[in-house]
Amino acid sequence: MSDLFSKFDPIIELRSELLESGVTDPFNLVMEKVESPTVAICNGRRTILLGTYNYMGMTFDPDVIAAGKKALDEFGSGTTGSRVLNGTYVGHRAVEQALKDFYAMDHAMVFSTGYQANLGVISTIAGKDDYIVLDIDSHASIYDGCALGNAQIVPFRHNDIEALEKRLKRIPEGAGKLVVLEGVYSMLGDIAPLKEMVAVSKANGAMVLVDEAHSMGFIGEHGRGVAEAQGIIDDVDFIIGTFSKSVGTVGGFCVSNHPKFEILRLVCRPYVFTASLPPSVVATAATSIRKLMDSADKRAHLWENSKRLHAGLRQLGFTLGTDEPQSAIIAVIMPDLETGAAMWEALLDEGLYVNLARPPATPAGMTLLRCSLCALHSEEQVGEILGMFAAAGRATGCID
Ligand SMILES: Cc1ncc(COP(=O)(O)O)c(C=O)c1O
Repeated sequence: MSDLFSKFDPIIELRSELLESGVTDPFNLVMEKVESPTVAICNGRRTILLGTYNYMGMTFDPDVIAAGKKALDEFGSGTTGSRVLNGTYVGHRAVEQALKDFYAMDHAMVFSTGYQANLGVISTIAGKDDYIVLDIDSHASIYDGCALGNAQIVPFRHNDIEALEKRLKRIPEGAGKLVVLEGVYSMLGDIAPLKEMVAVSKANGAMVLVDEAHSMGFIGEHGRGVAEAQGIIDDVDFIIGTFSKSVGTVGGFCVSNHPKFEILRLVCRPYVFTASLPPSVVATAATSIRKLMDSADKRAHLWENSKRLHAGLRQLGFTLGTDEPQSAIIAVIMPDLETGAAMWEALLDEGLYVNLARPPATPAGMTLLRCSLCALHSEEQVGEILGMFAAAGRATGCID
Protein backbone atom coordinates (compact mmCIF):
# COMPACT_ATOMS: atom_id res chain seq x y z
CA MET A 1 0.00 0.00 0.00
CA SER A 2 1.41 3.40 -0.90
CA ASP A 3 1.22 5.87 1.97
CA LEU A 4 -0.88 8.81 0.86
CA PHE A 5 0.81 10.89 3.56
CA SER A 6 4.28 10.58 1.99
CA LYS A 7 3.70 13.81 0.05
CA PHE A 8 3.77 15.66 3.38
CA ASP A 9 7.26 14.39 4.29
CA PRO A 10 9.10 17.63 3.37
CA ILE A 11 6.86 19.74 5.64
CA ILE A 12 6.98 17.12 8.42
CA GLU A 13 10.78 17.28 8.26
CA LEU A 14 10.85 21.08 8.25
CA ARG A 15 8.55 21.18 11.28
CA SER A 16 10.60 18.61 13.21
CA GLU A 17 13.84 20.48 12.48
CA LEU A 18 12.29 23.69 13.78
CA LEU A 19 10.93 22.09 16.95
CA GLU A 20 14.16 20.17 17.59
CA SER A 21 15.93 23.53 17.79
CA GLY A 22 13.96 23.95 21.04
CA VAL A 23 11.69 26.74 19.84
CA THR A 24 8.01 26.82 20.96
CA ASP A 25 5.67 25.71 18.16
CA PRO A 26 4.54 29.04 16.67
CA PHE A 27 1.50 27.42 15.07
CA ASN A 28 0.09 25.84 18.20
CA LEU A 29 -0.32 28.59 20.78
CA VAL A 30 -3.10 28.08 23.33
CA MET A 31 -4.88 31.07 24.81
CA GLU A 32 -5.78 29.97 28.33
CA LYS A 33 -7.98 32.97 28.98
CA VAL A 34 -8.96 35.94 26.84
CA GLU A 35 -9.50 39.03 28.95
CA SER A 36 -10.30 41.58 26.25
CA PRO A 37 -9.74 42.16 22.51
CA THR A 38 -6.15 43.16 23.32
CA VAL A 39 -5.07 40.94 26.24
CA ALA A 40 -5.00 37.16 26.83
CA ILE A 41 -3.27 34.76 29.18
CA CYS A 42 -0.84 32.50 27.29
CA ASN A 43 1.55 30.11 29.09
CA GLY A 44 0.21 31.59 32.35
CA ARG A 45 1.38 35.07 31.35
CA ARG A 46 -0.43 38.32 30.47
CA THR A 47 0.07 38.70 26.74
CA ILE A 48 -0.79 41.65 24.50
CA LEU A 49 -2.59 40.45 21.39
CA LEU A 50 -1.17 41.85 18.16
CA GLY A 51 -2.09 39.06 15.78
CA THR A 52 -5.84 38.55 15.97
CA TYR A 53 -7.46 40.59 13.10
CA ASN A 54 -9.80 41.92 15.78
CA TYR A 55 -9.41 45.32 14.13
CA MET A 56 -12.37 47.07 15.68
CA GLY A 57 -12.29 45.24 19.02
CA MET A 58 -15.92 44.06 18.81
CA THR A 59 -15.47 40.65 20.49
CA PHE A 60 -16.18 41.95 23.99
CA ASP A 61 -18.63 44.70 23.09
CA PRO A 62 -21.41 44.47 25.70
CA ASP A 63 -24.22 44.97 23.13
CA VAL A 64 -22.75 42.30 20.87
CA ILE A 65 -22.45 39.81 23.72
CA ALA A 66 -25.97 40.57 24.98
CA ALA A 67 -27.41 40.00 21.48
CA GLY A 68 -25.65 36.62 21.26
CA LYS A 69 -26.90 35.49 24.68
CA LYS A 70 -30.47 36.55 23.89
CA ALA A 71 -30.46 34.64 20.59
CA LEU A 72 -29.01 31.58 22.31
CA ASP A 73 -31.86 31.66 24.84
CA GLU A 74 -34.59 32.34 22.30
CA PHE A 75 -33.49 30.23 19.31
CA GLY A 76 -31.20 27.54 20.73
CA SER A 77 -27.62 26.65 19.99
CA GLY A 78 -27.79 25.84 16.28
CA THR A 79 -30.01 25.60 13.22
CA THR A 80 -29.04 22.02 12.28
CA GLY A 81 -29.73 22.77 8.66
CA SER A 82 -28.96 24.47 5.38
CA ARG A 83 -30.28 27.93 4.55
CA VAL A 84 -32.55 26.42 1.89
CA LEU A 85 -34.14 23.92 4.28
CA ASN A 86 -34.59 24.60 8.01
CA GLY A 87 -31.57 26.89 8.32
CA THR A 88 -33.01 30.36 7.67
CA TYR A 89 -34.10 32.09 10.88
CA VAL A 90 -35.14 35.71 11.31
CA GLY A 91 -31.57 36.36 12.51
CA HIS A 92 -30.12 35.39 9.11
CA ARG A 93 -32.44 37.82 7.41
CA ALA A 94 -31.57 40.49 10.00
CA VAL A 95 -27.83 40.16 9.45
CA GLU A 96 -28.31 40.29 5.68
CA GLN A 97 -30.36 43.47 6.13
CA ALA A 98 -27.60 44.92 8.34
CA LEU A 99 -25.08 44.19 5.55
CA LYS A 100 -27.31 45.79 2.90
CA ASP A 101 -27.59 48.88 5.09
CA PHE A 102 -23.87 48.90 5.91
CA TYR A 103 -22.83 48.76 2.24
CA ALA A 104 -25.90 50.56 0.81
CA MET A 105 -26.33 47.67 -1.62
CA ASP A 106 -29.38 45.77 -2.86
CA HIS A 107 -28.37 42.22 -2.00
CA ALA A 108 -26.48 40.40 0.75
CA MET A 109 -25.91 36.69 1.19
CA VAL A 110 -24.35 35.19 4.31
CA PHE A 111 -22.12 32.10 4.27
CA SER A 112 -20.73 30.04 7.15
CA THR A 113 -17.22 31.53 6.70
CA GLY A 114 -15.43 34.03 4.50
CA TYR A 115 -13.56 31.09 2.99
CA GLN A 116 -16.88 29.60 1.90
CA ALA A 117 -18.09 32.96 0.56
CA ASN A 118 -15.13 33.09 -1.85
CA LEU A 119 -15.39 29.40 -2.61
CA GLY A 120 -19.11 29.67 -3.31
CA VAL A 121 -19.40 32.92 -5.22
CA ILE A 122 -16.30 32.54 -7.39
CA SER A 123 -16.94 28.90 -8.31
CA THR A 124 -20.59 29.56 -9.09
CA ILE A 125 -20.28 32.67 -11.24
CA ALA A 126 -17.11 31.67 -13.12
CA GLY A 127 -17.23 28.13 -14.47
CA LYS A 128 -15.71 26.08 -17.26
CA ASP A 129 -14.89 28.25 -20.34
CA ASP A 130 -14.91 31.44 -18.22
CA TYR A 131 -11.71 33.28 -17.29
CA ILE A 132 -10.68 34.48 -13.86
CA VAL A 133 -7.94 37.09 -13.82
CA LEU A 134 -6.52 37.39 -10.33
CA ASP A 135 -3.66 38.97 -8.41
CA ILE A 136 -0.99 36.32 -7.86
CA ASP A 137 -0.94 37.07 -4.12
CA SER A 138 -4.64 36.26 -3.70
CA HIS A 139 -5.87 34.48 -0.57
CA ALA A 140 -6.12 30.66 -0.60
CA SER A 141 -9.93 30.81 -0.54
CA ILE A 142 -9.87 32.74 -3.84
CA TYR A 143 -7.61 30.16 -5.48
CA ASP A 144 -9.76 27.35 -4.12
CA GLY A 145 -12.90 29.06 -5.47
CA CYS A 146 -11.26 29.25 -8.90
CA ALA A 147 -10.30 25.57 -8.76
CA LEU A 148 -13.75 24.44 -7.66
CA GLY A 149 -15.43 26.21 -10.59
CA ASN A 150 -12.98 24.90 -13.17
CA ALA A 151 -12.51 28.28 -14.84
CA GLN A 152 -9.33 29.23 -16.70
CA ILE A 153 -7.08 30.96 -14.18
CA VAL A 154 -4.95 33.88 -15.34
CA PRO A 155 -2.77 35.30 -12.54
CA PHE A 156 -1.01 38.66 -12.88
CA ARG A 157 1.84 40.26 -10.93
CA HIS A 158 0.83 41.67 -7.56
CA ASN A 159 -0.83 45.09 -7.83
CA ASP A 160 0.45 45.58 -11.40
CA ILE A 161 -2.18 47.50 -13.38
CA GLU A 162 -0.44 47.03 -16.75
CA ALA A 163 -0.06 43.29 -16.21
CA LEU A 164 -3.78 43.06 -15.44
CA GLU A 165 -4.63 44.95 -18.63
CA LYS A 166 -2.34 42.77 -20.76
CA ARG A 167 -3.88 39.57 -19.40
CA LEU A 168 -7.40 40.88 -20.00
CA LYS A 169 -6.63 41.82 -23.59
CA ARG A 170 -5.36 38.30 -24.35
CA ILE A 171 -8.64 36.62 -23.37
CA PRO A 172 -10.71 35.50 -26.38
CA GLU A 173 -13.48 37.86 -27.44
CA GLY A 174 -16.87 36.98 -25.97
CA ALA A 175 -15.53 34.84 -23.08
CA GLY A 176 -16.87 35.43 -19.57
CA LYS A 177 -14.34 37.38 -17.48
CA LEU A 178 -14.10 37.87 -13.74
CA VAL A 179 -11.35 39.97 -12.18
CA VAL A 180 -10.71 39.09 -8.53
CA LEU A 181 -8.90 41.60 -6.30
CA GLU A 182 -8.41 42.22 -2.61
CA GLY A 183 -8.71 45.61 -0.89
CA VAL A 184 -5.94 44.91 1.63
CA TYR A 185 -3.45 42.10 1.05
CA SER A 186 -3.13 40.45 4.41
CA MET A 187 0.49 39.33 4.31
CA LEU A 188 2.23 42.67 3.74
CA GLY A 189 -0.72 44.89 4.69
CA ASP A 190 -0.59 46.79 1.39
CA ILE A 191 -3.67 48.01 -0.44
CA ALA A 192 -4.61 47.55 -4.11
CA PRO A 193 -4.85 50.38 -6.66
CA LEU A 194 -8.52 49.46 -7.04
CA LYS A 195 -9.54 52.64 -8.83
CA GLU A 196 -7.23 51.98 -11.79
CA MET A 197 -7.74 48.21 -11.72
CA VAL A 198 -11.52 48.42 -11.72
CA ALA A 199 -11.39 50.96 -14.58
CA VAL A 200 -9.15 48.66 -16.66
CA SER A 201 -11.38 45.66 -15.89
CA LYS A 202 -14.55 47.47 -16.89
CA ALA A 203 -12.95 48.84 -20.07
CA ASN A 204 -12.19 45.24 -21.02
CA GLY A 205 -15.66 43.88 -20.32
CA ALA A 206 -14.92 42.05 -17.06
CA MET A 207 -16.99 41.78 -13.90
CA VAL A 208 -15.10 42.62 -10.71
CA LEU A 209 -15.11 40.92 -7.32
CA VAL A 210 -13.21 42.53 -4.43
CA ASP A 211 -12.43 40.72 -1.19
CA GLU A 212 -12.49 43.38 1.53
CA ALA A 213 -11.86 40.94 4.44
CA HIS A 214 -9.13 43.09 6.00
CA SER A 215 -10.60 46.52 5.34
CA MET A 216 -14.26 46.20 6.35
CA GLY A 217 -15.09 48.33 9.38
CA PHE A 218 -11.85 50.29 9.21
CA ILE A 219 -10.99 51.68 5.76
CA GLY A 220 -13.27 54.17 3.97
CA GLU A 221 -15.50 56.87 5.39
CA HIS A 222 -18.18 54.36 6.43
CA GLY A 223 -15.79 51.44 6.87
CA ARG A 224 -16.94 49.83 3.61
CA GLY A 225 -13.37 49.18 2.52
CA VAL A 226 -10.72 50.23 0.03
CA ALA A 227 -13.27 50.43 -2.82
CA GLU A 228 -15.14 53.06 -0.81
CA ALA A 229 -11.93 54.91 0.12
CA GLN A 230 -10.95 55.09 -3.57
CA GLY A 231 -14.44 56.21 -4.64
CA ILE A 232 -15.32 53.26 -6.91
CA ILE A 233 -17.52 51.04 -4.76
CA ASP A 234 -20.44 51.45 -7.18
CA ASP A 235 -18.32 49.98 -10.00
CA VAL A 236 -17.55 46.79 -8.08
CA ASP A 237 -19.93 43.93 -8.93
CA PHE A 238 -19.36 41.78 -5.86
CA ILE A 239 -17.81 42.50 -2.48
CA ILE A 240 -16.76 39.55 -0.35
CA GLY A 241 -16.22 39.92 3.37
CA THR A 242 -15.93 38.06 6.61
CA PHE A 243 -17.32 38.30 10.14
CA SER A 244 -14.09 36.83 11.52
CA LYS A 245 -12.13 40.09 11.56
CA SER A 246 -13.65 43.54 12.28
CA VAL A 247 -17.10 42.10 12.97
CA GLY A 248 -15.61 39.92 15.71
CA THR A 249 -17.36 36.58 15.24
CA VAL A 250 -17.45 33.98 12.44
CA GLY A 251 -19.15 33.95 9.04
CA GLY A 252 -18.74 35.30 5.54
CA PHE A 253 -20.78 37.26 3.02
CA CYS A 254 -21.18 38.68 -0.44
CA VAL A 255 -22.95 41.97 -1.19
CA SER A 256 -23.92 43.11 -4.68
CA ASN A 257 -26.27 45.23 -6.76
CA HIS A 258 -26.51 42.62 -9.52
CA PRO A 259 -30.22 42.26 -10.40
CA LYS A 260 -30.02 38.45 -10.65
CA PHE A 261 -27.96 38.01 -7.48
CA GLU A 262 -30.64 36.16 -5.47
CA ILE A 263 -30.48 33.12 -7.76
CA LEU A 264 -27.17 32.28 -6.07
CA ARG A 265 -29.20 31.00 -3.12
CA LEU A 266 -30.30 28.06 -5.26
CA VAL A 267 -27.20 27.38 -7.35
CA CYS A 268 -24.24 28.07 -5.06
CA ARG A 269 -23.19 24.73 -3.59
CA PRO A 270 -21.12 26.02 -0.61
CA TYR A 271 -24.26 27.94 0.42
CA VAL A 272 -26.81 25.19 -0.23
CA PHE A 273 -24.99 22.09 1.01
CA THR A 274 -23.89 23.17 4.46
CA ALA A 275 -25.52 24.15 7.75
CA SER A 276 -26.22 27.82 8.37
CA LEU A 277 -24.59 29.88 11.10
CA PRO A 278 -25.99 29.50 14.64
CA PRO A 279 -28.56 32.13 15.76
CA SER A 280 -26.19 33.51 18.41
CA VAL A 281 -23.51 34.12 15.77
CA VAL A 282 -25.77 35.97 13.35
CA ALA A 283 -27.21 38.03 16.20
CA THR A 284 -23.73 39.10 17.34
CA ALA A 285 -22.76 39.84 13.73
CA ALA A 286 -25.84 41.99 13.04
CA THR A 287 -25.32 44.00 16.23
CA SER A 288 -21.63 44.46 15.52
CA ILE A 289 -22.18 45.52 11.89
CA ARG A 290 -24.75 48.14 12.94
CA LYS A 291 -22.34 49.50 15.56
CA LEU A 292 -19.52 49.61 12.99
CA MET A 293 -21.63 52.04 10.94
CA ASP A 294 -21.13 54.56 13.69
CA SER A 295 -17.47 54.03 14.58
CA ALA A 296 -15.60 56.96 13.02
CA ASP A 297 -13.74 57.68 16.27
CA LYS A 298 -12.51 54.11 16.55
CA ARG A 299 -11.42 54.17 12.90
CA ALA A 300 -9.41 57.35 13.58
CA HIS A 301 -7.77 55.81 16.67
CA LEU A 302 -6.87 52.66 14.74
CA TRP A 303 -5.14 54.78 12.08
CA GLU A 304 -3.20 56.51 14.86
CA ASN A 305 -2.13 53.15 16.27
CA SER A 306 -1.09 51.88 12.86
CA LYS A 307 0.98 55.00 12.11
CA ARG A 308 2.62 54.95 15.52
CA LEU A 309 3.61 51.29 15.39
CA HIS A 310 4.87 51.58 11.80
CA ALA A 311 7.03 54.62 12.59
CA GLY A 312 8.31 53.10 15.84
CA LEU A 313 9.30 49.77 14.28
CA ARG A 314 11.07 51.54 11.44
CA GLN A 315 12.94 53.70 13.88
CA LEU A 316 14.09 50.58 15.73
CA GLY A 317 15.61 49.33 12.46
CA PHE A 318 13.13 46.66 11.37
CA THR A 319 12.35 46.13 7.68
CA LEU A 320 8.61 46.46 7.08
CA GLY A 321 6.25 45.23 4.36
CA THR A 322 5.22 48.74 3.29
CA ASP A 323 7.01 52.12 3.27
CA GLU A 324 3.98 53.81 4.81
CA PRO A 325 1.20 52.27 6.92
CA GLN A 326 -1.63 51.40 4.51
CA SER A 327 -3.90 49.32 6.75
CA ALA A 328 -4.08 47.87 10.27
CA ILE A 329 -1.57 45.16 9.28
CA ILE A 330 2.12 45.84 9.69
CA ALA A 331 4.44 43.09 8.50
CA VAL A 332 7.97 42.82 9.88
CA ILE A 333 10.19 41.01 7.39
CA MET A 334 12.49 38.35 8.87
CA PRO A 335 15.64 37.07 7.13
CA ASP A 336 14.66 33.38 7.43
CA LEU A 337 12.32 30.95 9.20
CA GLU A 338 14.76 30.16 12.04
CA THR A 339 15.25 33.83 12.92
CA GLY A 340 11.52 34.48 12.49
CA ALA A 341 10.64 31.65 14.88
CA ALA A 342 13.26 32.81 17.41
CA MET A 343 11.97 36.37 17.26
CA TRP A 344 8.35 35.16 17.54
CA GLU A 345 9.25 33.21 20.69
CA ALA A 346 11.28 36.10 22.15
CA LEU A 347 8.25 38.37 21.68
CA LEU A 348 6.00 35.80 23.36
CA ASP A 349 8.42 35.64 26.28
CA GLU A 350 8.18 39.42 26.49
CA GLY A 351 4.37 39.11 26.59
CA LEU A 352 3.43 39.88 22.99
CA TYR A 353 1.59 37.68 20.50
CA VAL A 354 2.08 38.26 16.76
CA ASN A 355 1.63 35.91 13.78
CA LEU A 356 4.55 34.07 12.26
CA ALA A 357 3.78 33.71 8.56
CA ARG A 358 5.74 31.69 6.04
CA PRO A 359 5.32 30.26 2.52
CA PRO A 360 3.00 29.23 0.92
CA ALA A 361 0.88 31.89 2.69
CA THR A 362 3.49 34.62 2.13
CA PRO A 363 4.66 36.10 -1.18
CA ALA A 364 8.21 35.66 -2.57
CA GLY A 365 9.17 33.00 0.01
CA MET A 366 9.21 35.56 2.82
CA THR A 367 9.06 34.86 6.56
CA LEU A 368 7.05 37.54 8.28
CA LEU A 369 6.01 38.59 11.75
CA ARG A 370 2.59 39.97 11.09
CA CYS A 371 1.13 42.52 13.46
CA SER A 372 -2.54 43.41 13.27
CA LEU A 373 -3.62 46.36 15.35
CA CYS A 374 -6.89 46.84 17.16
CA ALA A 375 -8.86 50.07 17.66
CA LEU A 376 -8.85 49.21 21.37
CA HIS A 377 -5.06 49.09 21.74
CA SER A 378 -4.29 52.07 23.96
CA GLU A 379 -1.48 54.49 23.23
CA GLU A 380 0.26 53.00 26.26
CA GLN A 381 -0.04 49.46 24.86
CA VAL A 382 1.48 50.56 21.54
CA GLY A 383 4.40 51.96 23.57
CA GLU A 384 4.71 48.64 25.42
CA ILE A 385 4.64 46.75 22.12
CA LEU A 386 7.52 48.85 20.75
CA GLY A 387 9.52 48.21 23.92
CA MET A 388 8.98 44.46 23.50
CA PHE A 389 10.08 44.56 19.84
CA ALA A 390 13.22 46.46 20.87
CA ALA A 391 14.12 43.90 23.57
CA ALA A 392 13.29 40.80 21.46
CA GLY A 393 14.97 42.28 18.37
CA ARG A 394 18.23 42.87 20.25
CA ALA A 395 18.10 39.47 22.01
CA THR A 396 17.78 37.64 18.67
CA GLY A 397 20.20 39.86 16.75
CA CYS A 398 17.48 41.15 14.39
CA ILE A 399 18.40 44.75 15.23
CA ASP A 400 21.49 46.39 16.74
C1 LIG B 1 -8.45 37.93 2.13
C2 LIG B 1 -9.20 36.89 2.90
N1 LIG B 1 -10.34 36.40 2.39
C3 LIG B 1 -11.05 35.48 3.04
C4 LIG B 1 -10.64 34.98 4.26
C5 LIG B 1 -11.45 33.91 4.94
O1 LIG B 1 -12.17 34.41 6.00
P1 LIG B 1 -12.80 33.45 7.13
O2 LIG B 1 -11.86 33.47 8.28
O3 LIG B 1 -14.10 34.08 7.45
O4 LIG B 1 -12.95 32.11 6.54
C6 LIG B 1 -9.48 35.48 4.84
C7 LIG B 1 -9.04 34.96 6.15
O5 LIG B 1 -7.99 35.12 6.64
C8 LIG B 1 -8.74 36.45 4.14
O6 LIG B 1 -7.59 36.91 4.64
